[in-house]
Amino acid sequence: MSTAAKKTALVVGATGVVGRNLLQHLLALEDWHVIAVSRRAPDLEGDYRHIPVDLMDAADCADKFGRDLGVTHVFYAAYVEMPSWAETVAPNLAMLTNLMDAVEVAAPGLQHVNLMHGTKWYGNHLGSFKTPAQENDPRHMPPNFYYDQQDFIAERQKGKSWTWSTARPHGVCGFAVGNPMNLVMVLSVYATLSKALGLPLRHPGSRANAHALYQVSDTALLSRAAVWMSTNTGCANEPFNVTNGDIFRWEDMWPAFADYFDMNLAPPQKIDLSHMMADKAGLWREIAQQHALQDIAYERLVSWAYGDFVFTPEFDIVSSMTKARQLGFHDVVDSREMFLRLFDELRANRVIP
Ligand SMILES: NC(=O)c1ccc[n+]([C@@H]2O[C@H](COP(=O)([O-])OP(=O)(O)OC[C@H]3O[C@@H](n4cnc5c(N)ncnc54)[C@H](OP(=O)(O)O)[C@@H]3O)[C@@H](O)[C@H]2O)c1
Repeated sequence: MSTAAKKTALVVGATGVVGRNLLQHLLALEDWHVIAVSRRAPDLEGDYRHIPVDLMDAADCADKFGRDLGVTHVFYAAYVEMPSWAETVAPNLAMLTNLMDAVEVAAPGLQHVNLMHGTKWYGNHLGSFKTPAQENDPRHMPPNFYYDQQDFIAERQKGKSWTWSTARPHGVCGFAVGNPMNLVMVLSVYATLSKALGLPLRHPGSRANAHALYQVSDTALLSRAAVWMSTNTGCANEPFNVTNGDIFRWEDMWPAFADYFDMNLAPPQKIDLSHMMADKAGLWREIAQQHALQDIAYERLVSWAYGDFVFTPEFDIVSSMTKARQLGFHDVVDSREMFLRLFDELRANRVIP
């Protein structure tokens, strides 16, 4: 393919769970040039350029993006976690604004800006919500930084030739080291520690949580969806739910996990992971030494608070995939196979024994 026909992706947040896997996906496509943006350098080999930038620093953004880099597509997957959801609004809106202020003026060929959002759009962090959630469901009582970011990009796009889209995944699962907000890390480290303590494998939520319907998003599928909605004119200026498309109950998933980790299965027992796993850093160090695992600090390995977020709700969490399917995105992933594949990848990379 000629260089002229290539699109140029700016993958923002390229060291994140979402961004790293999107970067990897784009690198395998022949019609894309890729520029990665994050403070740390991504741990991926490949034909791309990394621009280290602090998105909170408007001057740094202007300095790094204030000239034409040929960007045609922005994939925005940067995110900063704060002690409370309400506090996420200011920094996450500032980072997107700083980026767009710099990139937009210097990228005359800009065609599309895709934002990575999630099911919290529907308020699953507040309590039960209408399921399956649809993209045009009414908003919940703000604050919610996804609303601020979407409103910002929709307003900024008015009268421009470029378009925007947003993806709303849930429970993103993918290979990434040192990104603790990753369900695959929660599951595999929890199982490994339970086994080391001679315990059977127990769902760490209530029976009602184990029985509720749940959904996850494989980063490989999410990457394909992001590229699809960014390059398909029918998706212009629209949000899309993006999940594996096969809802499941955790109670049906644990037998496969017990088999994988060669453990006995026991009934669910709700524990507060944040508190009860806090003292297991020493044990993890011993396991890591014994099995020659990668040296990853316990607090960067896994977020137990994120585990509590997943294993506490006693209501269904289901998003409708109808809108994406009707517009032509028919990808589906078997979530059980996905978990086992990702555990394999963690083992192969010596992240878990
Ligand atoms: N993880 C999930 O399960 C999940 C589920 C649903 C929705 N989402 C949404 O998906 C989006 C991406 O989440 P994620 O889980 O991939 O996040 P993540 O793993 O925490 O990654 C965040 C990315 O943002 C970059 N970043 C943060 N602050 C920065 C700064 N000041 N300057 C430059 N880069 C900065 C980080 O890079 P450096 O630290 O290297 O700078 C990293 O690449 C978020 O909107 C999140 O709400 C995630």
